[in-house]
Amino acid sequence: MGTINVALLGFGTVGQGVYEAIDSHQERLKELLGKEVRVRAILIKDPSKERFVDPSITLTTQFQDILETPDLDFIFEAIVGEEPSYSYLSQAIDKGIHIVTANKAMFAKYGPTLLEKAKGKNVKLGFEATTAGGIPVIGAIKELLKVNEIERIQGILNGTSNFILSQMRTGGLSFEKALKLAQEKGYAEEDPTSDIEGYDAFYKLLTLSQTAYGRQPYLSDITRKGITSLTKQWLQAADSFGLRFKHVGSLERDEENNIYGSVEPVLVHNSHPFYGVEEVENAISLKGSLVGRVTLLGPGAGKFPTASAILEDFLSLLYQDPARQQAESKTAQELEEEESISEW
Ligand code: NDP
Ligand code: HSE
Repeated sequence: MGTINVALLGFGTVGQGVYEAIDSHQERLKELLGKEVRVRAILIKDPSKERFVDPSITLTTQFQDILETPDLDFIFEAIVGEEPSYSYLSQAIDKGIHIVTANKAMFAKYGPTLLEKAKGKNVKLGFEATTAGGIPVIGAIKELLKVNEIERIQGILNGTSNFILSQMRTGGLSFEKALKLAQEKGYAEEDPTSDIEGYDAFYKLLTLSQTAYGRQPYLSDITRKGITSLTKQWLQAADSFGLRFKHVGSLERDEENNIYGSVEPVLVHNSHPFYGVEEVENAISLKGSLVGRVTLLGPGAGKFPTASAILEDFLSLLYQDPARQQAESKTAQELEEEESISEW
């Protein structure tokens, strides 16, 4: 059986989740791909941290070691921030290595450039994990809503903020305690300002816009407000009127093709699909020109939901491989021939 050789950039919440998920789902991966997926190298920043990985894997702080890994097929990227991530992924594309990234801040800024570059080099680039954790929203827009025009996108796009609001409202925790719990659970960003001030949801809106409309709005056309001004008293008072505060990102395209967006706390009624979205869950409503409103709901952050997004993305990219599609259609044709022979 052949192997698909992968390297991980980052071995924090997400990197470790991917490592463990490959191990726990190896048989399933072999069944789907007809190949074994082997982690060959892992990039980290701090060499003094204790790591529990197979001793045959190269652990390195040097990206050059990753690039020089023999027969490397894919990089799964889960480090933090725009740089050095962008430079690393650019170099990987130049070497023809396929990529799946979870890095939202980097992808929101450099996604369009990287996608263009990857296209030019025939390299696959997946970014499902950058938006809404385990919810396959990028795939839904790209693969399942091709004919529909997406007229509007609304979402609870940050798990940490939603978790904090839930904890403050139901668990009676203070903002600070709820944030600390979100950090312990691996939901929050390295700098949680990004979560609580709405930057993280803003990055996700940019990626959603790129995916649904093929371009991003002007940054000045998206307003942004976080959850820091909401108090426990406000959250509980809203509840008594059948209303809940949710941190919602919205995107809309007008008839002149302008895209406008906002990220802000919004009061939703108990009849709204976002009303019951609690804890680390995210939810996204896509308004399609034919289908109307479709709402996707699921875990928006964390180790295994994000590992799920990365591995499902990886599989989808491999299934798009024209050589594989040809092989599959050949098999189907062969099967058809076999069937007609037996009928005859
Ligand atoms: P963590 O802080 O838990 O882990 C980050 C990892 O990246 C660490 O292993 C760190 O190394 C490594 N790293 C950071 N900077 C560098 C660098 N310059 N060079 C080499 N290695 C580096 O973050 P997460 O795993 O939570 O998140 C990773 C990425 O995934 C982020 O971009 C985040 O936005 C995104 N993401 C996170 C989700 C989540 O639920 N946590 C969900 C979806 C996306 P070391 O271990 O040595 O410190
Ligand atoms: N910090 C992010 C969140 C991680 O809480 O939603 C998932 O993108």
